[in-house]
Amino acid sequence: MQTHEIRKRFLDHFVNAGHTEVPSASVILDDPNLLFVNAGMVQFVPYFLGQQTPPWNRATSVQKCIRTPDIDEVGITTRHNTFFQMAGNFSFGDYFKKGAIEFAWTLLTNPQDQGGYGFDPERLWATVYLDDDEAIALWQEVAGLPLDRIQRRGMADNYWSMGIPGPCGPSSEIYYDRGPEYGVEGGPEANEDRYIEIWNLVFMQNERGQGTSKEDFEILGPLPRKNIDTGMGVERVACLLQDVDNVYETDLLRPVIDLVAGLAPRGYGQGNHDDDVRYRIIADHSRTAAIIIGDGVSPGNEGRGYVLRRLLRRIIRAAKLLGVDQPVMSELMTTVRDAMAPSYPELATDFDRIHRIAVAEETAFNRTLASGSRLFDEAARATKASGASVLSGSDAFTLHDTYGFPLELTLEMAAESGLSVDEEGFRGLMAEQRRRAKADAAARKQAHSDLSAYRDLVDAGPTEFTGFNELTSEAKILGIFVDGQRVPVVSHDARQDRVELILDRTPFYAESGGQIADEGAITGAGASSAAKAAVTDVQKIAKTLWAHRVNVESGEFVEGDTIVAAVDPRWRHGATQGHSGTHMVHAALRQVLGPNAVQAGSLNRPGYLRFDFNWQGALNDDQRTQIEEVTNEAVEADFEVHSFTTGLEKAKAMGAMALFGENYPDEVRVVEIGGPFSLELCGGTHVRSSAQIGPVTILGESSVGSGVRRVEAYVGLDSFRHLAKERALMAGLASSLKVPSEEVPARVANLVERLRAAEKELDRMRLANARAAAANAAAGAEVLGKVRVVAQRMAGGMSAADLRTLVGDVRGKLGSDPAVVALIAEGDNDTVPFVVAVNPAAQDLGLRANDLVKPFGAPVNGRGGGKADLAQGSGKGAAGIDAALAALRAELGRS
Ligand code: ALA
Repeated sequence: MQTHEIRKRFLDHFVNAGHTEVPSASVILDDPNLLFVNAGMVQFVPYFLGQQTPPWNRATSVQKCIRTPDIDEVGITTRHNTFFQMAGNFSFGDYFKKGAIEFAWTLLTNPQDQGGYGFDPERLWATVYLDDDEAIALWQEVAGLPLDRIQRRGMADNYWSMGIPGPCGPSSEIYYDRGPEYGVEGGPEANEDRYIEIWNLVFMQNERGQGTSKEDFEILGPLPRKNIDTGMGVERVACLLQDVDNVYETDLLRPVIDLVAGLAPRGYGQGNHDDDVRYRIIADHSRTAAIIIGDGVSPGNEGRGYVLRRLLRRIIRAAKLLGVDQPVMSELMTTVRDAMAPSYPELATDFDRIHRIAVAEETAFNRTLASGSRLFDEAARATKASGASVLSGSDAFTLHDTYGFPLELTLEMAAESGLSVDEEGFRGLMAEQRRRAKADAAARKQAHSDLSAYRDLVDAGPTEFTGFNELTSEAKILGIFVDGQRVPVVSHDARQDRVELILDRTPFYAESGGQIADEGAITGAGASSAAKAAVTDVQKIAKTLWAHRVNVESGEFVEGDTIVAAVDPRWRHGATQGHSGTHMVHAALRQVLGPNAVQAGSLNRPGYLRFDFNWQGALNDDQRTQIEEVTNEAVEADFEVHSFTTGLEKAKAMGAMALFGENYPDEVRVVEIGGPFSLELCGGTHVRSSAQIGPVTILGESSVGSGVRRVEAYVGLDSFRHLAKERALMAGLASSLKVPSEEVPARVANLVERLRAAEKELDRMRLANARAAAANAAAGAEVLGKVRVVAQRMAGGMSAADLRTLVGDVRGKLGSDPAVVALIAEGDNDTVPFVVAVNPAAQDLGLRANDLVKPFGAPVNGRGGGKADLAQGSGKGAAGIDAALAALRAELGRS
C-alpha cells in the first residue's frame, strides 16, 4: 500500500468517527524552546493546557515532524527518519483510553478491502505505563490481546511529553513483530528492531515543568480535562505494508536511493554496509532538507539554520564517499519534489526557492571542502615535518569548526597520508565548544519560557490593545512580577531586577513582527498618583498577555491600582515611520527583483529599518538605486495606509504577503499601502499616509548567511540627518582639495594616480640605489675559507623580492669562483627578510643555500628554506641582524 493511501485511510477512518481534519502546521512554530515541531500535538498545546478553547473536541491530522537528536542512527537502524509524517487523532476532553484503543485497533486490523491496514492481530503487541492496569484491561477487553503480548515499561518509554514544559501523560504503544530474522524474541522490551513501534497512544492528563531527562521532570498537576493524543508513524507503517526491509526503501524515499545509485560507481544493497548507510542518509536527509527549506529556513550557523546546513553537508559528504564526484543537490531536490508534492504541494509551488537554496549551499560547501583540503595538506605536512604521526586535535577541530569537515572525513584523509588523529583532543575541544554554546543559549533563552507563574492571568483573558486608536489609556494593574515571581506591590526602592506590570488594557505595542516595543511611562492615578515608572520593554506572554517591563522611578504600584499608561508620542511616530518604511522597501524590492526576493525577517525602530530576504549574490548599484527610487516615489505619492481584518485564506487570495513559517490565526489583520503597491499580513502600527514616512535612504546591502541578504535604511528625520552628514563630509573634502564638490571624484582619482606613479618611482630609485650598493658590496667581497663572501645588511624597507633581485646581481658580479651572497634587511612591518645564494662552484664545495639559510635566520627568529642555489626566509626583530651576519660568517669560516 502506497504512503499516500496510508495517509488517506487514516484520515478517512477518523473523519468518519467525527474528527475534524486539521492540516499539518509548519515545522516551525513560534516557541523559543522547540527547534522544530516534533509531534502531531504541538499545534494543539494551548487546547490541552486549557489556555484556549478548541473549536472541535475531536481532530485528526498528518503532521510534518522533524526529529534530529537521533541523526546518527539514520540509515544504521531500519526505522529512524529525521523527517517523518505523524498521523494522529486527538480528543480534547472527549473520549479517553477506551476510545483511543478501539479506534487504533480497528484501523490496524480491519482488512484492507474494508478500509483498514489489514495487520495480522497475532503479530501486534502493546506496552503500557508501569501501573496502568486500566489500559491492560482495555487491551484485553477491546482487542482481545493476551497478557503475554502486553508489557509494562517505565517513564523513559511509556510516559510522554514534548521534552519541555507542557502537557504530558502515560502512554500505550503498539508494536508489530517483524519475525525472528529481525532479532530475538521477548517483545519490545527485548528488541525494538524486531518489534517495531508503529503507534503511540498518549493519555494526556498532566502538566509537566522543567526537567533534565525523559525520566526526570516535575509533574505540576492535572490538566483541566483528560485528553487523547496519538501518533502513528506513517513511514513505519509503509515499511511494513510494502514489505521492505527499512523505512528508507519505502515508496517515497526509494526514488532518491535509485537516483543516487545511477550516479555512483557502487550500487545500493551490494553487500557493503557502509555504502548502504550512505545511500539511506542521502534519501532521508534530502527529504528533510526540502521540507525545512519549504517552511522558510535557510542554512546558517545556529539553531534551525545549522540543523539544515548539517543535513545538507551530510548529504554532500555521503555522496562523495559513495564516489559521486558531480553536484547532486539539484537532482535530489527534483526527485524529492516529485515524490512528496502530492501530499505537500508547497514543495512544488515553492520549488524554485527550495532548489536555489539547496544548490547554493552545495556550491558553497564544495568550495569550503576545497579550501579545507588545503589546510589539511598543510597541517599534515607540518605534522610529518616535526617527526610526529598524529594530527593534533586542534587541527581536526579547526577543520570541523571552520571548514565543516566531519571528523570521519579528517580521519579518512589522515589515514590516506599515513597519519592518525588525536580524537580525544578533538572531542575535548568539541565538548568545550558545546559547553560554551549551551551557556550562551541558556542566557538568551526567553525569560517568559516558563509560563506557570503567569498562568492565572493568561487564563483570565487577553490584554486589550488600545494602541491602534490612542496613545494614552487608563488601565488596571492585574499583576506585578519581580524576577518572574508574582508580588502584591512594587515600590521605588524595591529590588528592581526585572519588574513587570500586567495591565488589563494598554496602548503600548509589544515587540512583534519585527517592530520593537513602544517606550513611554506608566503613572499612578488617584491614591497612587505619586507612582511613576518608565517602560523599557514590552513583550507578549503566551501571545495574549502584555508584560510591561519597567523601572519604577517614584512611589509604589499595587495590584488592582488604576494607572495611566502613556506611549511617548514621538517614539510612536518614529516607530510607525520605521514599520511603514519596511513595507515600502519590501514592496519596492519585489518590484525591482521579482517575487523570488522572499522576506526572511525584519526589524524596525524609530528612524531605522532593516529587511532580510532570500537572494543569491549581492545587489548591484543599479538595483540598489532603483529600490531606493521606487520607495521614495511611493512615499511622495502619499498613498493612503489602510488596515482591516479578514479571513486568512481570503487575505492570501488577495495576494497579501505572509511570512514563511509563521502560523497565522484564522482572522488576520492586513495592512495595505497604496492599494496593490503593498499588501501584508501585519499587526504593527503604521503611518496614516505614506508621505508621513519621510525620505528613505538605503545605507547598504550585505550578506547575513548563505542566500540571505540584508538591506538597511534610515527613514524620516534620521534619513535627512544622515544625508546632511554626508553633505558636510563632502563639503569638507571639497574645501581641502580646493575644488567644487562635483570635481571631487576626478580630483581624488587624479591624486591616487599620481601617488601610484610616485610610489613606483620611489621603488625604482630605491632599487637603483641598492644596486649601486650591491656593486660596491661585490667589490668589497671578503674571503672566508675557500669562498668569496658578500654578507651585508641592505637599506631598510626592502622586501624579500627586492633582496632576491639584488642577490642575483651580486652573485653575477662575483664571477665563477666559489662565492656566497647573503643579504638581510629591515623590511616593512617589523619583518626581517633574508636571502642566501650559492654559485655552482661553491655548491661543488658542498655548500648549500638551504643549509646556510638556517643559521643565518636563527638570530632574527626567522625560518627559511629553498634550494641549493637560492634560499630565503623572513624573521622578526631587527636587533638580531648583526648577529645573523656574524653567524653566517662563522658557518662559512668553518667550511
Ligand atoms: N505525541 C505522541 C508522540 O509523539 C503521540 O509519540
